[in-house]
Amino acid sequence: MTAAHEYNATIVRREDVHDGLAMLWVAPDGQGFAPFLPGQFVAIGRIVEAPGGPRALVKRSYSIGSSAHDRHAVQLFVVHVDDGEFTSWLFEQREGARVWLAPKASGGFTLQGFERGMDLALVSTGTGVAPYVSMIRTYDEAPPWRRAVVINGVRVAADLGFRDELEDAAARDPRLVYLPTTTREPEHSAWTGLRGRVGELLEPSRFRALAGFDLDPSRCHVYVCGNPSMIEDLERLLTARGFKKHTPRHRGTLHLEKYWTE
Ligand SMILES: Cc1cc2nc3c(=O)[nH]c(=O)nc-3n(C[C@H](O)[C@H](O)[C@H](O)COP(=O)(O)OP(=O)(O)OC[C@H]3O[C@@H](n4cnc5c(N)ncnc54)[C@H](O)[C@@H]3O)c2cc1C
Ligand SMILES: NC(=O)c1ccc[n+]([C@@H]2O[C@H](COP(=O)([O-])OP(=O)(O)OC[C@H]3O[C@@H](n4cnc5c(N)ncnc54)[C@H](OP(=O)(O)O)[C@@H]3O)[C@@H](O)[C@H]2O)c1
Repeated sequence: MTAAHEYNATIVRREDVHDGLAMLWVAPDGQGFAPFLPGQFVAIGRIVEAPGGPRALVKRSYSIGSSAHDRHAVQLFVVHVDDGEFTSWLFEQREGARVWLAPKASGGFTLQGFERGMDLALVSTGTGVAPYVSMIRTYDEAPPWRRAVVINGVRVAADLGFRDELEDAAARDPRLVYLPTTTREPEHSAWTGLRGRVGELLEPSRFRALAGFDLDPSRCHVYVCGNPSMIEDLERLLTARGFKKHTPRHRGTLHLEKYWTE
């Protein structure tokens, strides 16, 4: 058995946001989590023991929502995927449960390719809002952006993770706009906010009215995170409007993070 197959972390806090949707705080044993960049993800896992067989590690990736300045535990925002192998197990775990946590974060969906002083559109569906919360928490004092907008598309308003915190942050900071939007909220519910898919908010005049700046590739970077079909739709839409995809080899103004493949 290798060290990779030992539990090395604990779920120290769990808050259920809605059915099948939870915030988890995972603390590594020992000294705290390794330094990471806001926007990165970490793998957590479960050790599976087949009778008489070898131990196996079943692991999945989750964006870190915590500030990069707070490394006692990593905060994750997780949805229980219907019949999902790992999340079906994870949602049975309570505070105190042991998990495997990768020793460090990974991924290039960070602000490293972002040019200081430009505008920032942070677009997400579902739990894909988590990396943006890490960015906003980390740069609370001195953000590198001129203006930032966080767009989060969810089925119903109860699925909006970090809603209170993002509303408060936007109320405090005139440089920040928070635009949650719902697609399946019942028509006569208490929800009075935006409705429709995230792409509808990117229509130029609507975006300008809501966000207070233009989606102009010479002055703005766009980050897109979550549902893969949403990412493909927005990649088409935004490349047609002059945004260039950011890759490890080619700097661009369009940064993409797909949570799964279809
Ligand atoms: C870089 C990265 C960051 C991620 N960050 C997060 C995060 O912050 N929060 C989070 O909840 N998930 C996140 N994910 C997805 C996560 O890694 C798992 O794929 C997810 O939890 C499903 O695992 P599972 O074992 O339960 O489902 P599986 O048994 O592995 O998959 C079942 C099916 O569901 C599809 N699927 C996977 N995720 C979803 C989803 N969210 N909605 C609908 N279908 C899905 C898979 O393609 C597969 O077809 C991230 C993925 C990546 C690659
Ligand atoms: N509370 C929960 O969210 C919850 C609870 C338990 C289980 N689950 C399961 O978890 C999985 C993920 O659910 P989820 O709601 O987090 O994520 P999701 O299915 O990706 O939906 C999140 C938002 O993305 C939108 N969307 C989908 N495709 C899009 C596109 N091409 N362009 C723009 N927007 C798009 C959806 O709109 P539409 O409504 O128009 O599709 C919805 O508003 C599902 O298997 C679900 O059954 C979710």
